[in-house]
Amino acid sequence: MAKRALVTGAGGFIGHHLVKFLKERGYWVRGVDIKHPEFEPSPADEFELLDLRKFENCLIATRGGFDEVYHLAADMGGIGYITAIHADITRNNVLINTNILEACRINGTGRFFFSSSACVYPQYKQKSPNVTPLKEEDAWPADPEEGYGLEKLFMEKLCQYYREDYNLETRVARFHNIYGPLGTYEGGKEKAPAALCRKIALAKDGDEIEIWGDGKQTRSFLYIDDCLEGIYRLMQSDYAEPLNIGSDRMVTIDELADIIAQIAGKRIRKRYDLSKPQGVRGRNSDNTKMREILGWEPQIPLEKGLEITYRWIENELRKAGRIS
Ligand SMILES: NC(=O)c1ccc[n+]([C@@H]2O[C@H](COP(=O)([O-])OP(=O)(O)OC[C@H]3O[C@@H](n4cnc5c(N)ncnc54)[C@H](O)[C@@H]3O)[C@@H](O)[C@H]2O)c1
Repeated sequence: MAKRALVTGAGGFIGHHLVKFLKERGYWVRGVDIKHPEFEPSPADEFELLDLRKFENCLIATRGGFDEVYHLAADMGGIGYITAIHADITRNNVLINTNILEACRINGTGRFFFSSSACVYPQYKQKSPNVTPLKEEDAWPADPEEGYGLEKLFMEKLCQYYREDYNLETRVARFHNIYGPLGTYEGGKEKAPAALCRKIALAKDGDEIEIWGDGKQTRSFLYIDDCLEGIYRLMQSDYAEPLNIGSDRMVTIDELADIIAQIAGKRIRKRYDLSKPQGVRGRNSDNTKMREILGWEPQIPLEKGLEITYRWIENELRKAGRIS
């Protein structure tokens, strides 16, 4: 019999890709979200519109019990969004997370996956662009990103408590900047790779584009297909502690823009807006534990992933008649 999986946040970027991934592997999938996927219909066997901040909706979402629950629903966006909004993000996500976990316990769940974030890592360890890659144990003593990071760290602990007190098997991944096609690329919730792809696609050869900060801040970026493989391997593993799912190739935002400009075949000039949020100064993933636990590491080079992402965003803008 097919395994039953629930994907929360199935209308979002990673959740939608994950539904496709699980369907290809023969799962029966229920997807839930407060919205449908933005760019194409969900291939889920059932897709339900539910606001998971409400406990009764979490009971509906988890009814019948599941072999695997992949919990990706969250109120989130890029650095502009998560630094501007603290109260709503924290409240919404605490409600979604606590209610879905309790509903999973009541309705029966084989394994529960939680999508945490690199934003849990202490800000005092990310003050230099040439940052030491972050190991899982660095999360404590805690000093996470206000709001979004704090709430993720709290949920990591709640997963641990449900495992200890109720024997609910939980798996926790700390994602580091996931990008790829079908991700939001404008409107305020987009992340740096998609925002830069959009700006460069809309620019003419030789035009100026705006960069948030001085461009010297560093990050690592993981392509969606590698993220899905990491999620899946972690879910099948026996490892219950939080694990990084990210790339360990660190680039500056300037370098990221240069790679995209090269893909686009355009010369661009950069204007730095220092008033815009840039988040921590530097961040990179230490993948030592990932390699040890999953016997695997990300496979898709940044240039290749960005090429696919750029072409997709360029094509969306072309379909909308915004570029020729
Ligand atoms: N994309 C990244 O780089 C990244 C990095 C770290 C962590 N994460 C985590 O991974 C998960 C998925 O991220 P994503 O990039 O796909 O984001 P996303 O915003 O595309 O997807 C999240 C989905 O959750 C849904 N949602 C929000 N509030 C809801 C509610 N009250 N009820 C039901 N659904 C609700 C949204 O509608 C959205 O479709 C999130 O938990 C996010 O915090 C993502």
